[in-house]
Amino acid sequence: MRIDIITVLPELLASPLNHSILKRAQDAGIVEIHLHNIRDYSTNKHKRVDDYSFGGHAGMVLQVEPIHIIIEKLKAERTYDEIIYTSPDGVLFNQPLANQLSTFENIIILCGHYKGVDQRVRDFLITKEISIGDYVLTGGELAAAIITDSIVRLIPGAISDEVSALSDSFQDGLLAPPVYTRPAEYNGWKVPDILLSGHAKKIEDWNMEQSIERTKLLRPGLLDGK
Ligand code: ADE
Repeated sequence: MRIDIITVLPELLASPLNHSILKRAQDAGIVEIHLHNIRDYSTNKHKRVDDYSFGGHAGMVLQVEPIHIIIEKLKAERTYDEIIYTSPDGVLFNQPLANQLSTFENIIILCGHYKGVDQRVRDFLITKEISIGDYVLTGGELAAAIITDSIVRLIPGAISDEVSALSDSFQDGLLAPPVYTRPAEYNGWKVPDILLSGHAKKIEDWNMEQSIERTKLLRPGLLDGK
């Protein structure tokens, strides 16, 4: 898979995308992540990429031209399954959407900007708008990092134990059961006996019960598909 991220702040993305599973997946050739600085495509001699909004709204707006140039350049090189814009107006990001995006060959993520991008970018170049939650970030870079992280870990081979990605919270519409490791008792706090029993079927049933109980208690809406 290839992910092209278009941003005015590539430095903000460099660190989250270059550690742990994301780094290993790139090193192993499972995913290619390319950062594109919008400023590099400015046709303005001062490398400006934003301007005042028509109509007098406060704040600067990212201009259509440099973004159009980058997207057209990328589209001339390969076909994209989705061209995403990160914005609080978008569809709410969730696990089924992460699963779907992880099956794609090539995607572009355009990071939103604090007062937005020229609406013509959204009308003519973007195919999907995604929000990571009902709150406002200063820019779309952290949203792009979150979306990328959640997609990459689902690509076969990115996580050594693939079963673990499938048993994540939300993957079956339920929260994950609790997990424990050694020691079996610490400070008088005990690991549930069932997990030490070695009885695979009973442990599986217990995990499922715990998932359902946790979901009822913490996220009851998930049980109704919310
Ligand atoms: N940009 C600003 N806020 C955002 C959000 N909640 N989701 C995605 N992109 C954003």
